[in-house]
Amino acid sequence: MTPTSSHLIDFIRSKYRTQGSIPLHAPSFGASERKYLLDCLDSTFVSSVGAYVDRFEDEFARITGAAKAVSVVNGTAGLHVALRLVGVEPGDLVLTQSLSFVATCNAIAYCGAQPLFADVDRETMGLSPTAMEALLEEVALRDEGGAVHRATGRRIRACVPMHTFGHPADLDGLVAVCDKWGIALVEDAAEALGSLYHGRHVGLFGLIGVFSFNGNKIVTTGGGGALVFTETQLAARARHLTTTAKRPHAWEFVHDELGYNYRMPNINAALGCAQLERLPGFVEAKRALAADYAEFLRGSDLAFCSEPAGTRSNYWLCAVVCPDRATRDALLTETNAKGLGMRPVWMPMHQTAMYRDAPRGPLPMTEFLAEHVVNLPSSPPPGTAGNGAA
Ligand SMILES: Cc1ncc(COP(=O)(O)O)c(C=O)c1O
Repeated sequence: MTPTSSHLIDFIRSKYRTQGSIPLHAPSFGASERKYLLDCLDSTFVSSVGAYVDRFEDEFARITGAAKAVSVVNGTAGLHVALRLVGVEPGDLVLTQSLSFVATCNAIAYCGAQPLFADVDRETMGLSPTAMEALLEEVALRDEGGAVHRATGRRIRACVPMHTFGHPADLDGLVAVCDKWGIALVEDAAEALGSLYHGRHVGLFGLIGVFSFNGNKIVTTGGGGALVFTETQLAARARHLTTTAKRPHAWEFVHDELGYNYRMPNINAALGCAQLERLPGFVEAKRALAADYAEFLRGSDLAFCSEPAGTRSNYWLCAVVCPDRATRDALLTETNAKGLGMRPVWMPMHQTAMYRDAPRGPLPMTEFLAEHVVNLPSSPPPGTAGNGAA
């Protein structure tokens, strides 16, 4: 049986216990957020130096299992500096998926590089190792310096898969292709804090993993991001580049290369420290919500997007695949008219004005998902561990 939009709306309203509007995703704050923010104000250390920044980075590294975490002003800045750190230069190509938020490609463009798009897999909605390998076989050659785009001689320097809606991409497959071709792997894990791939936190499978703490993410610092590293030397370079490349000195201002003012302010980190304490509750609540959606939609023509095999997703945004575009549009129109924050997926990047000239392989799954996927309201519902209940 197909649950009509009105059945689905009733189900969502019962979960969120309201007849009012229900956002796609809303942050949740409690007593610790207030306490740490006030403490930060009282200390006067609200800017780029302060104890909360160090505490946030230590806690973030502990939670993810990283050797080191470096916090930044937002996820986009994090991606930008990550690409610089792995050596992306003007004129380079960076393999990535077209099915992503615009920040992934923008970070590539900020380096003067251009995206090279490969298709995504249906199960993960993330970059497909099979599509990537086929594309490389067709357009690239391997020399001692790595992968080169045959037609133009441009280096294919890095690869940025994205863990779509929190579902881990096929990391074993992607690591194998990157290793074979000598391409640096940077994970866009902006949406995937709390997600595991074969028991290991995402973000740790390549050289750098990048997270976002924008207001719509599972954990927010207002605005913010973090880079994680399995290796401390690269982390030290990240710290240097994100703090205007200033050499440590008590009073002298010596900047020894082009750096960025990308350090996360202490006041944002204070909020983040409180939010990180609640991450397990957020993940538990969102996984329970996902299980309830999956059960409600079982046997309907809206296919719920479950976590890929071998992974534990944070289910940042729950999603369904509609049978056709007309059903998707009707669902979006009806639910939004009734105050429910349902959204389509992003316009694929190869269809935007900025990136339509970027080189690419065939993208049939990207285009299919872009026309069929709808995100469902995904905040931790009231009374769950992620919202209100201790
Ligand atoms: C996939 C992806 N990459 C990058 C970003 C950029 O993060 P920010 O908004 O913190 O700059 C986001 C989210 O906003 C995202 O969803």
